[in-house]
Amino acid sequence: MTITRRQLIAGTGAALVANGALVGPLRAASHSGAAADGSADAWAELRAGLAKAQLTPAEYPATEVWAYNGTAPGPTLRIKRGALLRQRLVNGLPEATSIHWHGLRLPNAMDGVPGLTQEAVGPGESFDYEFTVPDAGTFWYHTHNRSWEQMARGLYGPLIIDEETPPDVDRDLILTLDDWRLDQTTAAIAGGFDGLHDQAHGGRIGNLVTVNGQFDHRQPVRGGERLRLRLINTANARIFNLGLQGLEGWVVALDGQPLEKPEPAAEVFRLAPAQRIDLIVDVTAEPGEEAYLVGLERDGGFALATFEAGSEAAQARRPAPEALAPNDLPAPDLKGAREVPMLLEGGAMRGLAKAEYLGREMSGRELAEQGQVWALNGVAGMPAAPFAGVGRGETLRIPMRNDTMFPHAMHLHGHHFRQEHEDGTLGPWRDTILVDPDQVVTIVFAADNPGRWLFHCHMLGHQVAGMKTRIEVA
Ligand code: C2O
Ligand code: CU
Repeated sequence: MTITRRQLIAGTGAALVANGALVGPLRAASHSGAAADGSADAWAELRAGLAKAQLTPAEYPATEVWAYNGTAPGPTLRIKRGALLRQRLVNGLPEATSIHWHGLRLPNAMDGVPGLTQEAVGPGESFDYEFTVPDAGTFWYHTHNRSWEQMARGLYGPLIIDEETPPDVDRDLILTLDDWRLDQTTAAIAGGFDGLHDQAHGGRIGNLVTVNGQFDHRQPVRGGERLRLRLINTANARIFNLGLQGLEGWVVALDGQPLEKPEPAAEVFRLAPAQRIDLIVDVTAEPGEEAYLVGLERDGGFALATFEAGSEAAQARRPAPEALAPNDLPAPDLKGAREVPMLLEGGAMRGLAKAEYLGREMSGRELAEQGQVWALNGVAGMPAAPFAGVGRGETLRIPMRNDTMFPHAMHLHGHHFRQEHEDGTLGPWRDTILVDPDQVVTIVFAADNPGRWLFHCHMLGHQVAGMKTRIEVA
């Protein structure tokens, strides 16, 4: 595996530069966040507004981003499982916004989806989000209004919900992965958010990858230390192919939910948009050397994050970690499940002959004029009737058939689900799952959370160009 330390990924055209100096720290200030003390008027604020961030090497100008509390990623919110989260969104942006708490099984009215669960919060307005957090794990928050643009400008942050008894590690590190599409000379965020070409292909892929908002993210560690790494893919469309070097260990959770048994980390593992993975790894790099979280591209690897193993002697390897305590998720009733198949269609190279949009059947060309190039079960955009309406507690089985040339990261709000394999076994709990071209991925879950829940592709350009629907739980 080759490592290019200055990990610029050129999209098309010239790379930004590859000889940048270390970028100054852009750590999100840690935030006590929710009113852990339970006091009635302790509203923590997330203020969405314009800010400057040094995403690129120092010789480039800072980039104007849209940020929560002045940083992109926004502040890390941290709260104990079962506690009450109270967070006031204050909108200092020139347009309306909202916050979605990705992966949380929360009350529908707090889900942050304009037009479905609340009205968008206008400039100068605010909205109070208040709910108890049911599950411990690695989650995140992000804008859900015009998200294909607002998220690409920086409106997201980590949300960590702590276990009653956290695992025994020396460091607990959050690594928020993003890619940005920047102008090659000014480092300004490039426009063209609504470009149908991107939307009909793989989405808005950036030309600069950052971890925690940094071009060259570094962490000091010590040889032999045990780390918990919480990886969050906040990119609009990029699927990260990841590897470890000088680190060895286990996957302990996916999308916030613990695995029943920790699994040795694969040599290459994929992280689709919106997915999270929690690893517990030991630093195996020799003292004085570096360890890496490696991003793998066609032409080799590059350091996404660098861990500098100090000069101290390594500790002896420890045994594998125990599984994290499971959250209390409702088991699906496989026998009584109601099956509603989902067909994913459209996009470049296969296209849409026709689909329904805004209640009317349209030709592929008419749809494209409306910015619609994808459809779920023959409907582009939000359907008049829900994709499925179910009674509370009923189990839904959704075989998703991807009849397109692109992978899709399908995300359901308000619930976690499991993949049902052909042999009847169930995969780990997830809230976002990748469906590859010409694959069928079947998910099952007990729909126990009442409300109107969005179900969409988390490649955000696909979402706006048709790939969204909703499930209604009575
Ligand atoms: Cu990460 Cu519809 O959300
Ligand atoms: Cu998609």
